[in-house]
Amino acid sequence: MRIVILPDPTAVARFGADIFVQQIQKKPASVLGFATGSTPLAMYQQLINDCQSKKVSFKKVISFNLDEYLGLATTHQQSYRYFMNQHLFDHIDIDKNHTYIPRGDATDPAAACQDYENKIKEYDGIDIQLLGIGRNGHIGFNEPSSSLMSRTRVKTLTRATIEDNAHFFSADEYQPHMALTMGIGTILDAKKIILLATGKSKASAIKACVEGPLTAACPASALQLHQQATLILDEDAASELNDLEFYRHIERENLKLKEQMEK
Ligand code: PGA
Repeated sequence: MRIVILPDPTAVARFGADIFVQQIQKKPASVLGFATGSTPLAMYQQLINDCQSKKVSFKKVISFNLDEYLGLATTHQQSYRYFMNQHLFDHIDIDKNHTYIPRGDATDPAAACQDYENKIKEYDGIDIQLLGIGRNGHIGFNEPSSSLMSRTRVKTLTRATIEDNAHFFSADEYQPHMALTMGIGTILDAKKIILLATGKSKASAIKACVEGPLTAACPASALQLHQQATLILDEDAASELNDLEFYRHIERENLKLKEQMEK
């Protein structure tokens, strides 16, 4: 795992956006995995700015989102389709026909999950998957106890996740308790993984993810198995890590190496 610790959420957003921009510049038809939630919003704003200033074009990009609420139509204001349109797709030059999100309104959700897996394979897998992390260590909607080998399927959300996401819903609005989500196995198949975390409320989940045992009790700990997973953290999210100084040292050494190679 590469652990990058930055001063604040703005720096996290910029660092994450740069990785995506470089990926698209290298491979215009990249297959990108996107995430919803509060954390990626600042990074999406950076990508919007980069697209509008013509630094990058999403014209050939294909995207797959991690998850979607079960039972919400794509037009529902709380659906993740709506979220992605509102916070990213409507402001960049991506072809929306090439943006995939699990079908929350499918009459046969299990078949929709299988179709989703097949579609990802059709595009030869995901080049970079973006992740947030839940306070309980979830990635996507893979809650604690999810199989570390799981594929896209329907999952029941924990009370903690429902409460954490309640602020997106108004008091009289129906909040789904189930979702379709890529599995942990699906996520681990991505060629690269970028996890963003900011704020003190994520510090203990980050500690469990990086320094805890590999366990279904913390789904994000499965990233320990991935060869190219990068965690981009602000100081608050990194604050409970035991080996903080070592992670900073590694980054400094890698930077030195890179500078020497570029000379
Ligand atoms: P958040 O959610 O960015 O809204 O904190 C992260 C997640 O649940 O994956």
